[in-house]
Amino acid sequence: MSRQFFVGGNFKMNGSVDSIKSIVSNLNGAQLDKNTEVVIAPPALYLLLTREHLGKNIEVAAQNVFDKPNGAFTGEISASQLIESDIKWTLLGHSERRQILCESDSFIASKTKHALEHNLGVILCCGETLEQREANKTTDVVTAQLAAVAQVVKDWSKIVVAYEPIWAIGTGKVATTEQAQEVHEAIRAWIKKTIGDDVAEKTRIIYGGSVSEKNCKDLAKQKDVDGFLVGGASLKPAFVDIINSKI
Ligand code: G3P
Repeated sequence: MSRQFFVGGNFKMNGSVDSIKSIVSNLNGAQLDKNTEVVIAPPALYLLLTREHLGKNIEVAAQNVFDKPNGAFTGEISASQLIESDIKWTLLGHSERRQILCESDSFIASKTKHALEHNLGVILCCGETLEQREANKTTDVVTAQLAAVAQVVKDWSKIVVAYEPIWAIGTGKVATTEQAQEVHEAIRAWIKKTIGDDVAEKTRIIYGGSVSEKNCKDLAKQKDVDGFLVGGASLKPAFVDIINSKI
């Protein structure tokens, strides 16, 4: 079973009108691997600008979405508003939202359910802290995060799982190919056991955490690494090299 390679760019709270236009122009002018699915996630303020100027070969994701329909939820964005704006994906469960915004596993699960019900694709993030890794709890932690979603979501066909070890995010300390493969394999085994063989085979499990043009090719060679979720490097021209890491 070959799964389509998937590369996401998470701009986080970075960018300006000019820098977003420059990134979009660079992507529009680049030769991108046609076999790789590419989704970029600018800050919410720039979603419409990005969608308007970006070629149709690249989809746009929100970095978050609420778990209720439109209404009295100050500061939130609804799934229907994203779909209406041709924003077809959302990130959910990023460690920065779990740690800084204190989003619980159950809240992330509820948002995932709601996003999928509105036909959004979901890049579902999971990952452990350095302390949890050193305590040999990595698999327990990431599968518990995914299990919260499995309790309320049965159809995983529009979920891409992003394994992002927290100790590798923004640190330059990328996981080794062995570390990434080991956790991706464990996540796929958990999906097989919990959801089913077919879903386990088809679900893309992508890696995030200090991915760069220097380390992406070796990581991309790993059997259960189906792509990347890129932070800092997605803001730079080298993001094209990461998108093309399979060629
Ligand atoms: O969501 C991707 C992000 O957490 C990874 O960040 O800067 O380590 O690539 P970075």
